[in-house]
Amino acid sequence: MKIVLLGPPGAGKGTQAKSISNRYSIPHISTGDIFRKNISENTPLGIEAKKYIDNGQLVPDEVTINMVKDRLTHDDCREGYLLDGFPRTVQQAEALEEFLHNRSEKIDTALLIDVPMSFILERMTGRRVCPSCGASYHVKFNPPSTEGKCDVCGSDVIQRKDDTEETVSERLDVYQKQTQPLIDFYKNREQLSVVDGTKAINEVFESICDILGSDK
Ligand code: AP5
Ligand code: MG
Repeated sequence: MKIVLLGPPGAGKGTQAKSISNRYSIPHISTGDIFRKNISENTPLGIEAKKYIDNGQLVPDEVTINMVKDRLTHDDCREGYLLDGFPRTVQQAEALEEFLHNRSEKIDTALLIDVPMSFILERMTGRRVCPSCGASYHVKFNPPSTEGKCDVCGSDVIQRKDDTEETVSERLDVYQKQTQPLIDFYKNREQLSVVDGTKAINEVFESICDILGSDK
């Protein structure tokens, strides 16, 4: 099962990806998470990516495409994977298609979590993440059981650096210009499925499972 998750920043891609990955036993590959890990470890990739991420811009296609191609050749990807945050430009989508074509493969579904822009700002400015284990919360919609503490590992949760109002508006702009065209890209290939992402987290997950079916 090879799935691409599409949707604007704050649509709930990461939130749903964790449940999908558990339910279908496929690895969750988030380009944002890979970049953030590299930033926290101060690797050359992290130093390069930080310049763009902190300003709400996309990391250049060449860097991102090579990083994902490398990740998709790991053993755990043999039975499929869930891509969260990639592709994000038409050039990335074409590179993924070519990579898969060369292996006589294709993605099964590009799943769009559809959320209008009016929901996004509240979702993103209220998001809190755990810097130790990566768990994600929302102060109103999905709060940790003890305020400010991660349920999984007990660390203090923090706000992502690119979740300030100013950077969020830049990211939305970038999404509309560079990523939204992928909706038509996958629609034209009859690979697009859409779920209503304005519902509660568990309801969105149920809609996703209806689309993906009961197979592992
Ligand atoms: P990335 O980390 O991918 O960020 P994003 O796409 O902007 O998406 P987010 O992670 O912000 O949102 P999400 O959809 O995962 O929402 P979440 O589930 O957390 O990318 C970050 C940066 O890295 C980019 O800006 C770019 O610079 C770079 N980058 C990454 N990939 C790249 C690529 N391919 N090419 C170039 N550059 C790249 O949910 C958000 C909040 O809402 C949470 O608090 C959650 O609890 C809450 N929530 C979720 N679902 C619901 C619901 N149904 N109801 C109520 N609240 C909900
Ligand atoms: Mg995410």
